Amino acid sequence: MMKVLKSLAIFGLAVAMVAGAVGSVSAMDAIKIRFSHVVSPNTPKGQAADMFAKLANERLKGKVEVQVFPNSQLYTDKKVLDALSTGSVEMAAPSTAKFTSWVPQLQLFDLPFLFKNSDVLYQTIDGKPGKKLFKLLGKKNMLGLAMWDNGFKQIGNNLREIKKPSDAGGIKYRIMSSKVLEAQFKAVGGNPLVMPFSEVYSALEQGVIDGQENTWSNMYSKKFFEVQKYITGTDHGYLGYMVVTNSQFWNYLPKDVRAELEAILQEVTAWIRVNAHKINMDQKAKIIAAGTTKVTELTDSEKDAFRQAFKPVHDEFRNVIGGDLIDAVYELNAKN
Ligand code: LMR
Repeated sequence: MMKVLKSLAIFGLAVAMVAGAVGSVSAMDAIKIRFSHVVSPNTPKGQAADMFAKLANERLKGKVEVQVFPNSQLYTDKKVLDALSTGSVEMAAPSTAKFTSWVPQLQLFDLPFLFKNSDVLYQTIDGKPGKKLFKLLGKKNMLGLAMWDNGFKQIGNNLREIKKPSDAGGIKYRIMSSKVLEAQFKAVGGNPLVMPFSEVYSALEQGVIDGQENTWSNMYSKKFFEVQKYITGTDHGYLGYMVVTNSQFWNYLPKDVRAELEAILQEVTAWIRVNAHKINMDQKAKIIAAGTTKVTELTDSEKDAFRQAFKPVHDEFRNVIGGDLIDAVYELNAKN
């Protein structure tokens, strides 16, 4: 009996959500999909979200209306997953680090120096590890629709040029809400502090933090280079996004609409895989051209010193993330 009531309640919520999105079930208004994210429109994710909206609005004209809200206009990443579960927003694409309290296994992607190259990364996402992670999201009533790339993170700060792990100690770093990232900076003697992305620029400017890690694109589009003296090209960690929706909302969409939206998502995912790196390289060049930040490149052996310094983090999180997931990536590294 309880089970029946629970299914009825879930069904009711889903119908209410889709009905809310169309205005009323009987009205033939377009279904509204609000896509909330925190970065600028000129970043890989910003461009991908806009492309998704454009294609959906063209191909499903009159049936669907996708509206993108960039720059944390609607929600920070901390709030957006709750908003998704209550139907206040229909789509989001937070970085994997933001799922720590929902699906801690997704911190796999935060492990420093995990992926040998992009082939390993995509084989991880498209293969068994990815399937397991998508399934775990499903248990939280979220549906993972795709994974989108940004790129690899670099370390910026205002205290000193960082060339070796010991240079990275004693610095207060802003981090995303991932325990792996906290451990990563502690491993080199840094002081990590969780903070929303929208607050990083002013925290750097006011000296609330000394440094942060992010991709070239995120540092360029949010103008961190104006308030940050040094960036070291460490490429130490991946920054990727889980494109998510509320599974009940998605499952109650008309079948043809859902199929078209999923096809568009595949198209956009293919686009971002080809273009995210290019966007980052272009925006790295713009940071260098601005001339306000000293950009330091590391040799392979200097990078290796960071790899060794961060390595204990992999073992520390083996039980949280799952040895099977970590080993699956190690195996792919060995094969590629
Ligand atoms: C961050 O908080 O630094 C990133 O997750 C922002 C983003 O979405 O790329």
